[in-house]
Amino acid sequence: MKVSELITITKPLSPISESYRTLRTNIKFSSVDKDIKVIVVTSSGPGEGKSTTASNLAVVMAQTGNKTVIIDCDQRKPRLHKVFNLSNERGISDVLAKEIKFEDAIQDTGVKDLAIITSGTKPPNPAELLASGAMKEFLESLREKYDTIIIDTPPIVAVTDAQLLSRYADGCILVVASEQADRDAAMKARELLEKVDANMLGVVLNKVDGSHKGYYGAYYSYYAEEEEKK
Ligand SMILES: Nc1ncnc2c1ncn2[C@@H]1O[C@H](COP(=O)(O)OP(=O)(O)OP(=O)(O)O)[C@@H](O)[C@H]1O
Ligand SMILES: [Mg+2]
Repeated sequence: MKVSELITITKPLSPISESYRTLRTNIKFSSVDKDIKVIVVTSSGPGEGKSTTASNLAVVMAQTGNKTVIIDCDQRKPRLHKVFNLSNERGISDVLAKEIKFEDAIQDTGVKDLAIITSGTKPPNPAELLASGAMKEFLESLREKYDTIIIDTPPIVAVTDAQLLSRYADGCILVVASEQADRDAAMKARELLEKVDANMLGVVLNKVDGSHKGYYGAYYSYYAEEEEKK
């Protein structure tokens, strides 16, 4: 998938793009006291739609003029450089290993107000790098420069990376692929996030086949919405 294939760019008026905008709105309203700047996107298992959700969310965030940066923190299966059709020669791992200055890892996506930091050179110890003080500092510097920071991660049940990163984030989103996710794994993912006191912003139910348009829908379930129904 290339940036031009992102649905929020190719079909901004489609119901799916609209649901990404609903996600954006819900995130904005999910916290009145605290600004939600750093958002971790994860799922229990592989291939549920983390990178797709993170990319489309980043696009709709940028579309409102929010200065946004998306970071590929999936060192095991990095994909965002492919989505945005960019080089992955240098990225976050190189910054954390102090090989390059942080400004040099930031690339332009071609989407207005949206920058990207790709995964970079594959490190032998991703969890250690992501949990490091350098990562915390890096995020602090990005907070000064950007309004929104979206972090794509590997599956949370397989490796600790997303759980570690959630400690530095203001909120996290759990993507659940409706037909492929295993219920126990999804519950386990939520439990792992709660263990580190992650602020669960909501669950994205992805790959919901209801459109017959070749692209499955993405629906969002929010605790706030559930509260409203009561
Ligand atoms: N809503 C959707 N409708 C149709 N296809 C989708 C949808 N969301 C994701 N996909 C497709 O499913 C595949 C996996 O998506 P994606 O790469 O976003 O998942 P991931 O959770 O990041 O995977 P990984 O665990 O490998 O990082 C991709 O080919 C993507 O294009
Ligand atoms: Mg991915």
